[in-house]
Amino acid sequence: MDDYKPIREDYLHEIAAASSLDLLYAVKVRYMGKKGLISEMNKNLAKLPPEEKPIAGAEIGKLRNEFTELYEGKEKKLKERELSEKLLSERLDVTLPGLALPIGSAHILSRTASEIADFFASMGYSVASGPEVELDYYNFEALNMPYGHPARDMQDTFYVSDSEVMRTHTSPVQIRTMLIHKPPIRIIAPGKVYRSDYDVTHSPMFHQVEGLYIDENISMGDLKGTLERFVKALFGSDVPVRFRASYFPFTEPSMEVDMGCSICGTKGCRVCKNTGWLEIGGCGMVAPEVFEAVKIDYDQYSGFAFGMGVERIAMLKYGIDDIRLFFENHVKFLNQF
Ligand code: DAH
Repeated sequence: MDDYKPIREDYLHEIAAASSLDLLYAVKVRYMGKKGLISEMNKNLAKLPPEEKPIAGAEIGKLRNEFTELYEGKEKKLKERELSEKLLSERLDVTLPGLALPIGSAHILSRTASEIADFFASMGYSVASGPEVELDYYNFEALNMPYGHPARDMQDTFYVSDSEVMRTHTSPVQIRTMLIHKPPIRIIAPGKVYRSDYDVTHSPMFHQVEGLYIDENISMGDLKGTLERFVKALFGSDVPVRFRASYFPFTEPSMEVDMGCSICGTKGCRVCKNTGWLEIGGCGMVAPEVFEAVKIDYDQYSGFAFGMGVERIAMLKYGIDDIRLFFENHVKFLNQF
């Protein structure tokens, strides 16, 4: 019996030392496996005198039971520990904020164009559109700029063919609309336009918003009131507006619209070239030649039209001094808005 004592001591020691399930299984195999120590001890029973065999056999049986019990106790402990370690390492805190994806937003020019459109929608205008590759006829001829007319030179045109151009302004949408609809007509037409020009204030592609109002008894007073309300809605009610006589072939009389400089408040600065005023667009009463081209009776109807640059308005509103920033798409610039 004393022979078993050191084996028992060793087993107790090894079980206590086993720090993982793998190590524990190895101990089990070494003692209780088919070729383990217990099996060997049973084999050795044969060498004992007959009267000692049952006593030794019972003793081995007791030892095996004790070993099994110790093993199972330790196995349970290790399994619990491994589970809690796993739970700890895979722990999920559902109260943590998620990974925030950056939220996109409309480009500052799209936003400015919608602000302009929203104002005119509130005045009862609807939105019209036309093609960017436009017939020379709609872009020039029907707007009282026949072939050879000097005013064509005001717009550095990209020609697509002899009869087609990249539209140089949104005014051809006036013609297209008046050919399809009978007065009363009240539309705005925002869109891209193209001119062969490139510097800090000119881009070969830029945006305009055209406006057209045709009905009976429309006067210069309606035009001035409308644009004044527009400037004050976008820039603030204390911004002054003025009209200067000008020339466009498709309006008579024609004017240019200025607003008080939003940078210096009419005191004079670099942006307004010390005049205190900034030009935001052209306008006028629709010319008889245009009415003739679209076959609207100008004895019965009259109307006004205007056109303004979206980039120009955005530049004045947000203090941007280089038009190219709108199209280079640097995220740092765009994110400011
Ligand atoms: N189409 C003109 C331009 O691009 C702007 C303009 C002036 C439009 C007067 C109009 C207008 O409708 O009446 O320079």
